[in-house]
Amino acid sequence: MKRKRVAVLVSGRGSNLQALLDAAADPVFPAEVALVISNVAGVQALERAAKASVPTEIISHRDFPDRPSFEQALSKRLEQAGVELVCQAGFMRILTARFVEQWHNRLINIHPSLLPAFPGLDTHARALAAGVKLHGCSVHFVRAEVDSGPIIGQAAVPVLTGDTPESLAARVLQAEHGLYPRCLQLVAAEQVDLQGELVRLSEQEASNAQLFNPAPRM
Ligand code: GRF
Repeated sequence: MKRKRVAVLVSGRGSNLQALLDAAADPVFPAEVALVISNVAGVQALERAAKASVPTEIISHRDFPDRPSFEQALSKRLEQAGVELVCQAGFMRILTARFVEQWHNRLINIHPSLLPAFPGLDTHARALAAGVKLHGCSVHFVRAEVDSGPIIGQAAVPVLTGDTPESLAARVLQAEHGLYPRCLQLVAAEQVDLQGELVRLSEQEASNAQLFNPAPRM
């Protein structure tokens, strides 16, 4: 199967972009990162893309009078580049229903919580305040409502005594770097089926993919 042309939308550090670039460096990975677009100039994500010899572009929302015109420019560039799938990776702009519809089931996001818990910002502090014992990250198809849409995959991490939002964020981020490439691999290889708004994987996960916290007694 031909590798899918993927664009990654970023706004900052780009550690998830790096995980996708590293995965796509393997020629058997079913997707190639064809373009990285940032809405902010000078961010680390752009350096990471340049280092991997991936074309970059800055489309600043500040250069447009409103959200629709910014998104139109974004879509136009994605189409020009022959992009088939779009991954949001720390992209800090909310996209309107029109853009989301245009890229329906071709637009993917990673969110640092086990959705549908904790949509929105400050997920790690909110998870600690709620006292949950498992936290994590989700990769999902994007729908118009913020941080909603069919869940492709999730990774859970334990919340440990003494965790701070920072220590928990670091543990979740490590899980993100494993989860995002895996989910992109499944989507790009067309192993993800949607039944209504639910994702069904044609390749079943191993039955030992379970996480307990506290750990069960042996
Ligand atoms: C990640 O935690 C991601 O889940 C969230 O924003 C953060 C981006 O980090 N959407 P990075 O730019 O990928 O390092």
